[in-house]
Amino acid sequence: MDKDELKRRAAAQALEHVRDGMQLGLGTGSTAKHFVELLGERVRAGLNVVGVPTSEATRADAERCGIKLTTLDEIDHLDLTVDGADEVDANLDLIKGGGGALLREKIVAAASDRMIVIADESKLVDSLGRFPLPIEVIPFGLAATRRAVLQVLATAGCTGELKLRPGKDGHAFVTDGGHWILDAHLGRIPDAPRLAQSLCAVPGVVEHGLFVGMARTVVLAGAAGIRTIERA
Ligand code: 5RP
Repeated sequence: MDKDELKRRAAAQALEHVRDGMQLGLGTGSTAKHFVELLGERVRAGLNVVGVPTSEATRADAERCGIKLTTLDEIDHLDLTVDGADEVDANLDLIKGGGGALLREKIVAAASDRMIVIADESKLVDSLGRFPLPIEVIPFGLAATRRAVLQVLATAGCTGELKLRPGKDGHAFVTDGGHWILDAHLGRIPDAPRLAQSLCAVPGVVEHGLFVGMARTVVLAGAAGIRTIERA
């Protein structure tokens, strides 16, 4: 079975948790896009929900699918966010941001009563870090921020290259918030909660892709079927 079909199956499973009247966070990426499309089918069949998209790409998809949208300024909480991930470990900690939407994804997940992560089983890892960790930074003072991030990484026992993510035009990739992304190629992150905390303290760092303690449920689709892991 191809990976995209597995992603769609994980998305379909998460849809089982959606109830009429819910306020939903809508994730970003190819797996989350399946969820938005499947949700759209239910909405067109009469389901009444409202969504907050985590990126301009997801906003466009949700609008195309006929899903009513709102903002976190208009409502005070979300019942459920469904989003993808680049890596998931056994503690249900995540690396996210491969699609560059980590900042809005984290704000939306933090405003949700529950976060369900949907993925194909290849995203489950023994230790986070093989996927480059996205770190969203302010363009001003990039070199200084980069030096400070390298210092924090070294203190956390991480080594590896820190690369400015390129955009399609050859210049820096620009996030929906107008920021840039440094991708940290670390191989392995020995203590993700500690690194997550230290990165937040660097001036110029807007957010990073470590989602620690945020996912309550992970739905993994594999060739043998769907596996749902709940936070203990
Ligand atoms: C976007 C993300 C995505 O959830 C992550 O990159 C997974 O993407 P995909 O579902 O396409 O594998 O964090 O910022």
